[in-house]
Amino acid sequence: MSRQLLRLAIMEAQRVLAEAGVPSPRADAELIAAHVLDVPRGKLLLTPMVDREVVDAIAGLVRERAKRVPLQHLVGWAPFGPVTVDVGPGVFVPRPETEQLLTWGLEFLVDRPGPVVVDLCTGSGALALAVATSRPDATVHAVEIDPTALAWARRNLGDTTVRLHAGDVTDPSLFAELDGSVDLVLCNPPYVPVDTPVPPEVSEHDPFGAVFAGADGLSVIRPVVTLAARLLRVGGAVGMEHDDTHAESVPALLSARKVLTGVEDHADLAGRPRFVTAHRA
Ligand SMILES: C[S@@+](CC[C@H](N)C(=O)[O-])C[C@H]1O[C@@H](n2cnc3c(N)ncnc32)[C@H](O)[C@@H]1O
Repeated sequence: MSRQLLRLAIMEAQRVLAEAGVPSPRADAELIAAHVLDVPRGKLLLTPMVDREVVDAIAGLVRERAKRVPLQHLVGWAPFGPVTVDVGPGVFVPRPETEQLLTWGLEFLVDRPGPVVVDLCTGSGALALAVATSRPDATVHAVEIDPTALAWARRNLGDTTVRLHAGDVTDPSLFAELDGSVDLVLCNPPYVPVDTPVPPEVSEHDPFGAVFAGADGLSVIRPVVTLAARLLRVGGAVGMEHDDTHAESVPALLSARKVLTGVEDHADLAGRPRFVTAHRA
């Protein structure tokens, strides 16, 4: 079949996805086609010939996406900064906005040889893997409570030096052996207040415990602040993502800890309050 037919298949996919309310129908249509053809999205329309099987495979995945199955579940992976992670049912899909937390963390680690880094609530292991890949001299610990997410993290971190732990960040004895020795704590916890409306990709496919955290969204963040204050060495830092309704409450939780200073909130690329940072005095 000709290149023109591929173009038509993509246009039809875009129409179906737009009708289903998918937020970025063109990008998703092209990414699905690129996945089926196993080419980068930018080279899609350079593909000289496609056969009927390819067009059918694209249509099949588009039907799934139109049911609001996350694109990343359909292709089986998600990009995150310098790495990609395998994802699927039972694990939170890493979001582009979390890359800003990663960038901040990596900048903080510049001029810190052999740092100790802890990724709390690691999910797929995205943050831990990105730090370990960018800083091979770092000792990176990652912790996750959910057994299914842990299995995904094991798959993504298996061949790396990251030390993956099954554990609960609300457990007051977690990582007692690391007290006062950590350079950087990174955390993207569940933080959405229960009953907040979310898109079907989130409500039906992200695990509930990965997204929601009590009526105010702070049930995991509160103990994480205590944990970070305990783990950090003097001069170390914590960076934690939060809901856009937490611009005041989460910085206030950190400011209330005498050992934490320089509390600063950061907006994402859309200008929404997105993550907080602080240093161990
Ligand atoms: C928003 S997801 C973030 C995953 C990953 N850090 C990322 O950015 O893609 C939050 C993760 O925290 C895990 N989690 C929730 N409560 C936890 C707890 N008390 N202890 C450890 N992990 C927890 C969830 O299972 C989920 O994988």
